[in-house]
Amino acid sequence: MTGPFDDSYMKEIRKKFPRIERDFKGRRRIFVDNGAGSLVLEEAARSEMRSRIDQSSNTDALYSESKANEMVISEGRKAVADLLNAPDEKNIYQGESASDLFFKVSYSLRGIMDRDSNVVSTYSEHFANVSPYLEMKRNNSISELRLANIDRRDGSIDINHLGSLVNGRTKMIAVTAESNLLGNKTKLEEISRIARENDSLLMVDGVHFAPQGYSDVRKIGCDFFVFSSYKIFGPRGSFMYMADSVLDVVKPYHVDREANPGTSSYLEIGTRDQGIFAAITSVVNYISRLSGSLKEFRSGHQVKNRRIAVRKGMERVERYHDELCRAVLDGTPKTEGLNSIKNVVLYGIPESSRSGERGTTFSFNFKNVSDRKAEEVYWKKFGITVVGGSHWNLAHDYYENPSMLRATFLHYNTISEVEKFLSATRWISSL
Ligand SMILES: Cc1ncc(COP(=O)(O)O)c(C=O)c1O
Repeated sequence: MTGPFDDSYMKEIRKKFPRIERDFKGRRRIFVDNGAGSLVLEEAARSEMRSRIDQSSNTDALYSESKANEMVISEGRKAVADLLNAPDEKNIYQGESASDLFFKVSYSLRGIMDRDSNVVSTYSEHFANVSPYLEMKRNNSISELRLANIDRRDGSIDINHLGSLVNGRTKMIAVTAESNLLGNKTKLEEISRIARENDSLLMVDGVHFAPQGYSDVRKIGCDFFVFSSYKIFGPRGSFMYMADSVLDVVKPYHVDREANPGTSSYLEIGTRDQGIFAAITSVVNYISRLSGSLKEFRSGHQVKNRRIAVRKGMERVERYHDELCRAVLDGTPKTEGLNSIKNVVLYGIPESSRSGERGTTFSFNFKNVSDRKAEEVYWKKFGITVVGGSHWNLAHDYYENPSMLRATFLHYNTISEVEKFLSATRWISSL
């Protein structure tokens, strides 16, 4: 295979993920439950462990372990700033999970919300990005949470409808960068324009998109961008970009009596876990190395300008994901694609010609087999981790369908794995 990553490059990539071929019990399997959590990059796990041993002390003291702890945390923030093209490490905050950060932001906005305020979101969201506003509505802190429709045929967000829901009383638009159920990418820049025109804040849930493509918070023009490190090759924990322009607006709960707007402990509660920062630095360094030649990648060299290299690495990942997407939808010379396998009902964008509008997440049902049964066959007979359920996504309400099977492919998945997934799908479709 030639393309963004040729066979030799792909082999090197796969070597970086110890559980790529087999699970911890030694069972050979194909991992496509990436939407629920990616495989872990070995160097991220190693730096996490090393920092737990070497930098276990707390910050703010003179001795070396304390200074090293401060350093590893600062390096992690710089790495995330590079990943998201944020202006500075000061714009980066860390949380227990994405859900935790969404809640903290909503809580910190109580000063600008009142009973006349509304929040606009969409039927494309993970529940984590809307539940803080349902809570605010329950407490009478806002009047409404308004949800923009999605197009039933292809799952895309109806931007015109979203625009019609926003008015001068909309204090926040909370929207996903990519549906964790259907794989549709959101037209963030259009939504950003609507937010600016209406003086509303914009929260982007980047959790599902982060491992799929380049996230540029400045280009998007958002106020908040959140992602979770366990979806992008690291351990649990999450990170958030917050724009300088909202520092005067947010009034977070904080324990640090000396915390001021712009300091990390203004929003972060309690002592940070340095291991998560060490791991994310390794993840970002790894992504930056994906921009290089095979020789450079193999040598593990550190790139000169990491920010530019991250963009190039992610753009290369996007080109490879495009190939994966076409293979899943249309098939390959060896196998039929999801679009033509009988008894498969596919949700989201079906046309491979529109692959730029979607990521590599595919959700579907079989007409002839329940999700539970299909999940069992995928796993027991074929060793493939396709999972059924709601995936915590609101689109289920919209489709009035409580469960869909989901497969998410990431850059370490091969075309040959796609073919095995498609062959298994074909087999199940004939039961
Ligand atoms: C799109 C999206 N947003 C938010 C979340 C919640 O992330 P966390 O588990 O870090 O709270 C998930 C988790 O699956 C997700 O896919």
